[in-house]
Amino acid sequence: MFLRILVLFFLNNYVILASDPDPVQDFCIPNMQATTIANQCKNSSTATVEDFVFSGIKSSGKFGPTGLAATSVNSNIFAGLNTLGMSFVRADFEVGGVNVPHFHPRATEIAFVLEGKVYSGFIDTNNKIFAKVIKKGEVMVFPKGMVHFQMNVGDTPATILGSFDSQNPGLMRIPTAIFGSGIKDQLLEKAFGFNSKELSRLKKRFAPH
Ligand SMILES: *[C@@H]1O[C@H](CO)[C@@H](O)[C@H](O)[C@H]1NC(C)=O
Repeated sequence: MFLRILVLFFLNNYVILASDPDPVQDFCIPNMQATTIANQCKNSSTATVEDFVFSGIKSSGKFGPTGLAATSVNSNIFAGLNTLGMSFVRADFEVGGVNVPHFHPRATEIAFVLEGKVYSGFIDTNNKIFAKVIKKGEVMVFPKGMVHFQMNVGDTPATILGSFDSQNPGLMRIPTAIFGSGIKDQLLEKAFGFNSKELSRLKKRFAPH
């Protein structure tokens, strides 16, 4: 019993932590009742076309305070992607809407502008910026792990479709990670040169809700 729990623990961590490995079967719709490594996937004879179709991004998601509505289509919400090493996102921007600086620790992203004009860019490890306005029909690539950002600079709404070379790219938004995670005040004040009033304004803004 204990051994079984241990094996399952490592199995789950393996799936979560590894960079996406090559599949060893055609596909692997997760088996929620899995007890061993041999039955991690549902028996493929029980899969249907519906396992490979996702209908959740026909329209935009809910807009957040920065004027962005982003819906990630990763293996957590679209099980058909499991083991396939890729995923997708739909992002809609209000006029002036911003996708705050963020990065995906496990994937390169390629983003296609379906509608609109979007100032898009990333920063490399030398802090060099690569940014410009990209328009309907253009794509931009954001290399794995690089901080990147977007803003709708047109006078109409914008939509971007992105894809990732991981079934679960991960998302870290810089403002929330820094000011909404509970790092000690003294550390942040010194790191950013803020006084406590300036810091508490930012902490309030990015507090988890
Ligand atoms: C999958 O299901 C089919 C049909 O019921 C069965 O013949 C086959 O043995 C099953 N495969 C596994 C690995 O359980």
